[in-house]
Amino acid sequence: EQVPLRLEINGKKYKLSVEPRTTLLDLLREQLHLTGTKKGCDYGQCGACTVHVDGQRVNSCLTLAVMQDGRKVTTIEGLADGDKLHPMQEAFLKHDGFQCGYCTPGQIMSAVACVREGHADSEGEIREFMSGNICRCGAYPNIVAAIQEVKN
Ligand code: FES
Repeated sequence: EQVPLRLEINGKKYKLSVEPRTTLLDLLREQLHLTGTKKGCDYGQCGACTVHVDGQRVNSCLTLAVMQDGRKVTTIEGLADGDKLHPMQEAFLKHDGFQCGYCTPGQIMSAVACVREGHADSEGEIREFMSGNICRCGAYPNIVAAIQEVKN
């Protein structure tokens, strides 16, 4: 059984129909082919699936798509302004805030929230806020450096 769902994703309005058990992550990736948002663990442990819903950071694997009816979702695809990268994307490039890159979309979405919500005053505060985003390559020092650059 499918249920209707209205969402605004990266500034574009969608009228969708989804199965009630579909997660926001699977909706984005499987139904809308917005594959920038990654699936790591699929149970809230890694942060690879981080998106913003109404400006708040959310693990998209942990929320059902139908629970977001009427809300605004931003994914990594919606961060740049046309050809102009978001300052956090630029900072990740400059500071090599990644190696394999798999966790990077989630890291960047969390990093944007970190600065916007005022949790980037010290390295400790940044690491605490970012602790739900796991990087198996261990790029943490560079990620912190990128966030500090954007904050300052
Ligand atoms: Fe959602 Fe790992 S895929 S937290």
